[in-house]
Amino acid sequence: MLKHYASALALTIISVCSVQAQLKPNLDIIPKPVQLQATTGTFNWNAQTKIYAAPAFKEAATLLSFSGQLLNINATAPGPKATNYIYVQQATADVLPDTNTYRLHITPAKITILARSRAAAINGIQSLVQLQLLQPDTQLIPCAVIEDHPRFGYRGLHLDVSRTFFPASYIKRYLDLMWLYKINTFHWHLVDGAGWRLQIKQFPALTDTAAWRYGATWREWAANHHRYASKGDPNAYGGYYTQDEARDIVAYAAKRGITVIPEIEMPGHAEEVLAVYPQLSCSGQPYKNNEFCLGNDQTFDFLEKVLVEVMDIFPSTYIHIGGDEANKSAWKKCPKCQQRIKTEHLKDENELQSYAIRRMEKFLTAHHRKLLGWDEILEGGLAPAATVMSWRGESGGIAAAKENHDVIMTPGTYCYFDHYQADPATQPEAQGGYLPVEKVYSYNPVPAELTADQAKHILGAQANLWAEYIPNPTHLEYMVYPRLLALAEVVWTPQEKRTFADFKTRLQSQYLLLQRLNVNYCRPSYTVTIVPQIDYQQQQTTISLNTEQYNPVIHYTMDGTTPAANAPVYTKPFSFKGSATITAAVFQDTLLKGTPTVLRADYHKAIGKPVTYNLPYSKKYPAKNEATLTDGYRGTVSYGDGLWQGFESNDMDVTIDMQTKDKLQSVSINFMQLEGVGIYMPSFVEVAVSDDGTNFTTVQHIDNDVPESQHALTFKAFNFNLEGRQARYIRVKAHNKQHGFLFADEVIVY
Ligand code: ACM
Repeated sequence: MLKHYASALALTIISVCSVQAQLKPNLDIIPKPVQLQATTGTFNWNAQTKIYAAPAFKEAATLLSFSGQLLNINATAPGPKATNYIYVQQATADVLPDTNTYRLHITPAKITILARSRAAAINGIQSLVQLQLLQPDTQLIPCAVIEDHPRFGYRGLHLDVSRTFFPASYIKRYLDLMWLYKINTFHWHLVDGAGWRLQIKQFPALTDTAAWRYGATWREWAANHHRYASKGDPNAYGGYYTQDEARDIVAYAAKRGITVIPEIEMPGHAEEVLAVYPQLSCSGQPYKNNEFCLGNDQTFDFLEKVLVEVMDIFPSTYIHIGGDEANKSAWKKCPKCQQRIKTEHLKDENELQSYAIRRMEKFLTAHHRKLLGWDEILEGGLAPAATVMSWRGESGGIAAAKENHDVIMTPGTYCYFDHYQADPATQPEAQGGYLPVEKVYSYNPVPAELTADQAKHILGAQANLWAEYIPNPTHLEYMVYPRLLALAEVVWTPQEKRTFADFKTRLQSQYLLLQRLNVNYCRPSYTVTIVPQIDYQQQQTTISLNTEQYNPVIHYTMDGTTPAANAPVYTKPFSFKGSATITAAVFQDTLLKGTPTVLRADYHKAIGKPVTYNLPYSKKYPAKNEATLTDGYRGTVSYGDGLWQGFESNDMDVTIDMQTKDKLQSVSINFMQLEGVGIYMPSFVEVAVSDDGTNFTTVQHIDNDVPESQHALTFKAFNFNLEGRQARYIRVKAHNKQHGFLFADEVIVY
């Protein structure tokens, strides 16, 4: 397996169609260059092509061998009469004022890449290599003039190697592929509860024990009660990178212009460390705590010794110290932590966490490094020079930028590539969420709330790959591609120069490239997305249909039947009054592809009616607040879509005021279950009615029949028959037995 990955990119590129090759030069580079001008002709890149490079770019020029060509690189300039060459040339400031810009000029006789900095030269080489891989005949490079520079300096991709261990040989391929899309930072999430993955010479138990566990997948390990094993145990799953392997990865990345940022988690997500060094936890016992004890100086001694070895391997300016999701309850009861709070005059456990982060920052600063952490490091006050990685939405990043701290944006709603990328019913299990490629593309990392000066603190954005549900490299590539192409353009191309329609066209060409590199990318979904738009004035609904397919033929019906090839073809949005069941599907050659999508659209009686919350909805998932349940829009496949309303810990208990006494036929309420993220069906739902809003009569009680153990995303409508009963108020109660999350939408009344 390892050999396979190591050699995967060195495949011989085959010309797929030599007739087309003459006809269709392709300039569909992603990320889209700032300026690209197609010119006539092609450059023939063949075995006789000479490569010249300025001395400063000689090493960078070797990257032209990406597709497997043998290169002979001359550290001199070509003579005036030379032809058939590629020249990576160093520009002077008067020719190219901006050090981040490259100019790529392709003519039939020669190709020049002009740059002042090594990073810009590499960016030019990336564009040329991509162009080569996009051509039907990879010898024939279309002529063009490109002048290009990045929007952001930080263009990141993360990988969690704790939940799943990806071997060093695979990490190189991961770097190769991200390189091709000008992603220049690899955030290596090296340690977490599911396994420590970096050799630390002073603490061998980290890799003798904490790197090994019972259960190959994260789910199996959880089913085995999160137990660690030992290296050499035939039932153990795991692995780690030796320091030599990590150094080799760092050098491999550096040669490609990629910085590797290591992450060492603290103070939470440390159960693997505390299993082998329990004296660093509040309880002093293994398998009890996930957080380091912050009252114990041994904790800081351990972390500093680890970081000394880490800094010796990783030359990056940034060291990521994690900081996310620490559970502070053990600190509340721990005498040492409480003593620390006293002696350091801290207000509470939030400030205790800040104390720890500040202490680590001092240590890193003394070693000429900078601290980077997840947005929880804002709690209890930011360390003076910390950079924040904003993941729980953008609010942490906005707050940090307003305090003049640097920020890397990686909000879950746009950047978590462990989320589903198509209808979950059609996908392998993922970490909830719903993030199709179009949504990634829609992201703008600079929030509107920031002034121009504050916006300068947004260094860029990053995609995160948490590996709980990513058990191997093949599946990893499925989750990364093609979404990384969308993010690559988000962080590279000026906001005003990019549109999804144009990206989608270029993406079609990139599929060929991904196939050539044996990337197991997620193919464009056949699922039709049905998007309703409600006009409350006209009391009508307008429907648009959309799919990831390119120039699709979509047939639809409005009566609940499955469309056939003679059903109406969708050409533009259409409107109707009242209710309809829209069913739509993509057809190819008159055959229905995939599974039809069904959307029931109701202009029902409760639309726009006021809702009172007898118990609160979750502030984390408010959707449209009080308007959510009666706005006419039903929640989609994703609980984070801003249409589903969450109820955390408590029951759902709402009263709808129909504003007049009315004859009621039915009430229907939709719920969802997504067990992996703690969303469950209510154990029962009850509907009661009232004339005065005080005295209610229960109409019906419906028990849930979806098992709690059902992993797959499940939707259920609880349907109540009101049999023409007269009432003004409708009360809906849904019991939250697990005290986790309920998600509800919409309450449909007839
Ligand atoms: C995170 O996703 N816990 C940073």
